[in-house]
Amino acid sequence: MKIALVTGATQGLGLALVEGLARRMDADDTVYLTGRDAARVASSVESIPGGGAQVRGEVFDVAEDDAADRIAETLRERHGGVDIVFGNAVMRVGPDDDPRSIVDTYTEVNNFGTTRLLRAFAPLVRDNGRLLVVASSLGTLHHLAPVLHRRFDGLRSLAEVDDQVAAWRAAIKDGSARGGAWPGFVNIPSKIGQVAAVRALAHQRRDRDLARGVLLAAVCPGMINTPTSALWWDVSSAPSPAEAAAAPLDLALGPLSPKHYGELVRHGEVVPWAP
Ligand SMILES: NC(=O)c1ccc[n+]([C@@H]2O[C@H](COP(=O)([O-])OP(=O)(O)OC[C@H]3O[C@@H](n4cnc5c(N)ncnc54)[C@H](OP(=O)(O)O)[C@@H]3O)[C@@H](O)[C@H]2O)c1
Repeated sequence: MKIALVTGATQGLGLALVEGLARRMDADDTVYLTGRDAARVASSVESIPGGGAQVRGEVFDVAEDDAADRIAETLRERHGGVDIVFGNAVMRVGPDDDPRSIVDTYTEVNNFGTTRLLRAFAPLVRDNGRLLVVASSLGTLHHLAPVLHRRFDGLRSLAEVDDQVAAWRAAIKDGSARGGAWPGFVNIPSKIGQVAAVRALAHQRRDRDLARGVLLAAVCPGMINTPTSALWWDVSSAPSPAEAAAAPLDLALGPLSPKHYGELVRHGEVVPWAP
């Protein structure tokens, strides 16, 4: 009996990941569809076609300090562990949002939410499990000015990653980021922070995880036609969430390729971290 969990699963890619997991897993498996709002979680669970694994809703606001620990403890009590975790939640922001007014919540959801998820769930992942963070191809040092690379390169713990994200957040709030080398698009440092978190944890767990068949990786789903990306780009011809979910699902359900461990993976290929 396998257990999977997806964060931010009330729409977009997260919902498609739950649908795909439920379709491809067995009837005695359980997929946790989680989200920040109880009503949206319930209606999303309702929307999943029957057949395949059981889909169970759980309120999980990744911005809440103790939510990841609480949900991890619930799964540990109910099932003794977890097999597949997708950290997918993202705060929707648009080009008109002032970075200074959104950055607290943005980093709380996307970055500190990710490191809390990794801390809470990594100890729970069973043999042959998957711990996957949905990032983006923007999450590499190629998209950051060279003078900033040392901030995110070679980090060895989640605490170091959190410190660097907090420093970036502080630079946005005191205005220094605007005149400096930081990119104006908050998605870039945020996604780099997510990939850096995966890399830092992978540094600590690589040998142990690979010996147990566990994959820890960041995933780039490519451009998707969702309302979030539509705020920035013309995504009318981009893949649907269901189409974009196919490659991340293969990573979650297919055989482990050691080259993917600790890396950002897009359509089965490693996206280089540094120039
Ligand atoms: N769309 C793209 O083109 C694209 C490209 C590359 C990478 N990605 C990545 O793919 C992932 C999914 O993107 P998407 O376009 O599918 O996003 P989306 O459609 O905006 O969905 C985001 C999901 O995150 C949830 N969420 C927001 N705040 C949350 C919180 N505090 N706690 C828990 N859940 C929360 C939302 O819940 P509500 O329903 O309650 O709002 C929603 O279910 C993200 O990590 C994104 O960065 C997307």
